Amino acid sequence: MLVSGLIERKRDGGVLAPGEWRELLAAYVAGRVPDYQMSALCMAVVWRGLAPEELRALTDAMLASGARLTWEGIDRPVVDKHSTGGVGDKTSLLLAPMLAACGVAVPMISGRGLGHTGGTLDKLEAIPGFRTALTLSEATAQVRRIGAAMLGQTDEICPADRKLYALRDVTGTVASVPLIAASIMSKKLAEGLDALVLDVKRGSGAFLADDARAIGLARTMIALGEAAGCRTVAVVTAMDRPLGFACGNALEVEEAIAALRGEGPADLMTVTRALGAELLCAAGVAADSPAAQARLAEVLRSGAALERFRAIVEAQGGNPAIVDDPAALPQAPCRAVYEAPVAGVIMTVAPRPIGHGVITLGGGRTRLEDDVDPAVGFVITAKPGQRVARDEPLATIHARDDAGLAAGRRALDEAITIGEAGAALPLLSHRITARWEEVLA
Ligand code: URA
Repeated sequence: MLVSGLIERKRDGGVLAPGEWRELLAAYVAGRVPDYQMSALCMAVVWRGLAPEELRALTDAMLASGARLTWEGIDRPVVDKHSTGGVGDKTSLLLAPMLAACGVAVPMISGRGLGHTGGTLDKLEAIPGFRTALTLSEATAQVRRIGAAMLGQTDEICPADRKLYALRDVTGTVASVPLIAASIMSKKLAEGLDALVLDVKRGSGAFLADDARAIGLARTMIALGEAAGCRTVAVVTAMDRPLGFACGNALEVEEAIAALRGEGPADLMTVTRALGAELLCAAGVAADSPAAQARLAEVLRSGAALERFRAIVEAQGGNPAIVDDPAALPQAPCRAVYEAPVAGVIMTVAPRPIGHGVITLGGGRTRLEDDVDPAVGFVITAKPGQRVARDEPLATIHARDDAGLAAGRRALDEAITIGEAGAALPLLSHRITARWEEVLA
């Protein structure tokens, strides 16, 4: 296989055969294709796209690079949720324990920060001791025992996505329908699911900002899921402002724990309930959406979801003290309140500058080998449409040092605009299944 020939063919708009995708991915995982060639190929895919048969071949090759989880004899439906990537999106941290407490099994394979967005694995690893690199047998045993495991790609599970995901993060090759679809669906199909809900983001902070591309991505992933026998539904949600208040790894864990105690921001809870209800209905655990939502509310009210989160943290080696005492999470030494420079209405809280701000503070990567600072980030309580007075507190910056505080202030200056009127996208705008598309708002 001449890799430079494959890159040139893709660059020129040609098609690679299924066997070529298989061979290429296997050689990449084995270390026989270098990162520089793979990133050139990814960039060619960003520009040229993939034919439907190429997308199927790439997804299959990524799936075949690792083992699949199997669930013989399990007494519960196996379900999961995945997002196409957002800023402040900690719904996975809520949904895994909430769904497990509702009686379904959740083998959640997630990713790290990608581009300007945060990643569930980086958030979980903000918990001292938390281990996301579970073996296949550890993951399946934990799901059978406590209903959920939250893990990352390893040499054993989705190794092709593990390498490609990290490479795309730092080479400007995330924003591509086929690359996102293959990345997400190879992980989800490796989980051996009965049902999957996809949170497809749209808006300025999404990888695919416009509606048509977001909906196209949803349809593409649904087709891959259904063809593999996994009931797949997508909800299109707003990413023109961060979800919830906290943006940054430990800060998001703290907000997720508050949410599991029933004290979550309204927008975060609306998205979490909508996604969770889809899964409980698809799994046949709830008769309809109101019944599913009532069940999810009950596991929050009773504390069952919080206890399930504690069980996940303990099972994966994390310090369970963080559940009762958020001060046990990593804390940034420097904090500063960001105040409204003028009076008016919040017009934007743009997620991209916020996400890039978290990276600049050290909370994300700019190179493959970067470590992540778990403590830094923002807590932004301002939301579009809110009227504010001059000097009113809008956010808190959590930084390592004074230079970080200054960088955080610059990011907020860029993200938050104040004027006469603010408009935001509807939080939940479309529901898409294999059979129909509903416009929700
Ligand atoms: N989430 C993933 O797992 N992969 C992507 O490419 C984007 C979001």
